[in-house]
Amino acid sequence: MGRVELAYSPYDPAVNEDPYPVYARMRREAPIYHNPELNFWALSRYDDVAAALVDSARYSSDHGPVLDGGVWGPKARTMLSFVATDPPDHTRMRSVIARGFTMRRVAALEPMIRGLARGYVEEGLEKGTFDFARDLSAKLPLDVISELMGVPPSDRAEVRERNNGLLRYHPGSDPSEDGLRNLFSLGGYYASIIAERRKAPRDDLVSVLVADDGLTDEEIVPFMLLLVGAGSETTTHLLNAAWYWAWRNPEQRAAAFGGAIAPWMEESLRYDTPAQGTARRLTEDTVLHGVDLPAGTRMWLLAGSANRDESVFPDPDAYDLGRDTSKLISFGAGRHYCLGASLARMEARVALEELTRLIAPDYEIDTTGIRRTRHGNVRGMLSLPTTVRP
Ligand code: HEM
Repeated sequence: MGRVELAYSPYDPAVNEDPYPVYARMRREAPIYHNPELNFWALSRYDDVAAALVDSARYSSDHGPVLDGGVWGPKARTMLSFVATDPPDHTRMRSVIARGFTMRRVAALEPMIRGLARGYVEEGLEKGTFDFARDLSAKLPLDVISELMGVPPSDRAEVRERNNGLLRYHPGSDPSEDGLRNLFSLGGYYASIIAERRKAPRDDLVSVLVADDGLTDEEIVPFMLLLVGAGSETTTHLLNAAWYWAWRNPEQRAAAFGGAIAPWMEESLRYDTPAQGTARRLTEDTVLHGVDLPAGTRMWLLAGSANRDESVFPDPDAYDLGRDTSKLISFGAGRHYCLGASLARMEARVALEELTRLIAPDYEIDTTGIRRTRHGNVRGMLSLPTTVRP
């Protein structure tokens, strides 16, 4: 049989279904891989991805982290806020935002998150068969973001509705009209919250952002929209991955339901990394694996592949709650390291605790009903039909 030529695009349906065999070939045969159509160079080995993430002087974020059409470019920050900036802007904005994202504020959210998680799990139990992705894991993180932003409970369902489809871009295309309409209406809605906090500050994140030494309105609305994308979809897919892979691996599921919640979460972050890749732009001419890359080259850093690199994670394709996951890079590294990592971990822990407490371990998933995202950066499921019993 002839050799199949190595071809990788994050939008190829086969890659979307299961990217890991292609990543393994890239790590072996083409540690620097060029996709001429989308015009990026991908790094897939752990050491290369990790080194690039921390070298933010050479690997600029100023065109944004998103590969998809319509978002990459010098205007990325108008939609994606400070994740699409370099120092000094990044340093200034991140330090203001970090003031609002304290351990205290994150910890204070736990009882509310537990109440929401319990409510969604109980609703699922009542139905018996429900969509884990749509009815639980997509709702919870977005409600948490709404709480952080000061969106009153009565408006949260509408925010969820408007967010639907917000960040679904496709390569070479602009955001859909519906997506844009939603973006602007959500932006307008957030602007009204900002105006309220300017008049009457409270002890919340938005009040920190609008303080005298805080951010401008032009900076805050994109930040709020970034949080919706960065903080909700990713957490949703972490929960989906944990639920799905534990089901596929009954021995590991037994360990998870036996109380190994943190290893369950960490191994799911590694095994099916929600944020598969992030983009950068080279600021200087660079040679990598013998290839000359001029300044300006678009780089694609594959955390999803790095987390399966056999040189760091032995037997990487085994889903194993007993392994050492301390080196996973699912939350990035360096300057842009995920600001919400501890919140995401707390949300996932609480949801998994409530799930294992209320639901019997012999749940079933209907694999014919699974639908996947078609997003370049984010990997996960939009639909995950599950049958459960108490
Ligand atoms: C940045 C992943 C949850 C807020 C990042 C980055 C990654 C990531 C990989 C770095 C992007 C880059 O270097 O280009 C994840 C995953 C999550 C998660 C896998 C869930 C499992 C959250 C949550 C929030 C959040 C819950 C907030 C509520 C942010 C922000 C940044 C960021 C604000 C930008 C930081 C900067 O540019 O300095 N995240 N994230 N994330 N994340 Fe998360």
